[in-house]
Amino acid sequence: MSKSTVPLFGYQSDMGRYVQQACDVYNHLANGVDEYCGGFDGKVVLDLGVGFQLIHGGLTLPLAIRAGASRCFGIDIASPGMHSSEPNKVEFWKAAKEMLSVDVQGLDEGRVYFASTDILHFDDFFSRIELLQMSASNMWFRDDMFDLVISNAVFEHVQNPHAVLKEMYRILKPGGTAYIHWNPFTGFRMGGHDIGMPFHYPWAHLRLKEKEHVKKLGEIFRNPDLFSTAFPPEHSPTAERAAIYAEDPGLFYKQIGYDLNRMRISEFLAYATSCGFEIAHSGFHCDESEKKYLTDDIRRELAGYSDEELLTIFHSAALRKPMQGRVNVNSVDGMKSAEPAKTPPGQVPSLARRLVNRGRAIFQRGRRIASDLGSRARPTNRSATERP
Ligand SMILES: C[S@@+](CC[C@H](N)C(=O)[O-])C[C@H]1O[C@@H](n2cnc3c(N)ncnc32)[C@H](O)[C@@H]1O
Repeated sequence: MSKSTVPLFGYQSDMGRYVQQACDVYNHLANGVDEYCGGFDGKVVLDLGVGFQLIHGGLTLPLAIRAGASRCFGIDIASPGMHSSEPNKVEFWKAAKEMLSVDVQGLDEGRVYFASTDILHFDDFFSRIELLQMSASNMWFRDDMFDLVISNAVFEHVQNPHAVLKEMYRILKPGGTAYIHWNPFTGFRMGGHDIGMPFHYPWAHLRLKEKEHVKKLGEIFRNPDLFSTAFPPEHSPTAERAAIYAEDPGLFYKQIGYDLNRMRISEFLAYATSCGFEIAHSGFHCDESEKKYLTDDIRRELAGYSDEELLTIFHSAALRKPMQGRVNVNSVDGMKSAEPAKTPPGQVPSLARRLVNRGRAIFQRGRRIASDLGSRARPTNRSATERP
């Protein structure tokens, strides 16, 4: 097993617990979607930063379909890799299929795939889940394509969160919404992503220089009494992973916290507003029991931060793209719906648009091949314009 595939947390070795943990995260998102975004029903959904490289990456997608979404796209800068025969992944998805009745395929053959990544399986080619490798700050999707964007634990990692919000605004339909969970850098528990550390040296990531921080991490990883008392207990590192970090605590940074952008909640909200979003909801999620770590001394040391931002574990936000009068007068159900954006006549399509058209042509060709072969392709009434 390579260093990076040694399970980080105890629960990841127990697939039932792992599925439950991943499902809890989805449920948090889904509750917010129901409360602030009108649910999943009939919607074209984008999960931004799916986490393809993670064992559970992508679980949100079949669950959103099960909750009524009409189509789900998932993107990440990591490679989809959902065509995986990695034993941990196969085991996880077998457990997920059993526990949650989600639709994943290939498991009997000892691999996992989400259909549309495999054009040889025509059944799957027309599936309602699409996984694509692309950056959220420069998406290939056409304007006004999605009803809903969801994202968990991604906004603290993206290099240019403002650019991502601009792109999110562009690809959402007028009236569309985004429900975002992220872990702001200022937070006690998750801010530095330095598992276990907050309980032994609170806000080390804000108070210590990297060299001292890494030294302290080494002390924690060398002492089972310390690393096994991380939050919550199932999030304690496994002894195997701790042994690796005890030897090289700097590796922990390279693997876990290297890409944190240090964005504050006020910055996130200001970026969102400047893109044109209405903030339909902004929630700080704290744990009362963690207040005791914010002693008077630490409060003085971190005087530039509010108590709320120091204690927030994750921030949730529901962002809404206003209708802005872009309504379809032919709407038949009395509800105003958005008109898709068009390239003005005579204007040369952008590179992104040409790539999209190229992708569409490839898709159409795939369809023709499927029908030439008399494949088992499912009939579909989806319009080609829904394709990225
Ligand atoms: C901590 S993981 C979260 C994954 C998943 N959403 C979850 O809840 O487990 C953060 C993910 O954001 C992805 N990411 C970082 N920057 C990105 C970008 N610019 N565009 C798309 N994905 C990005 C990373 O590759 C990583 O998979």
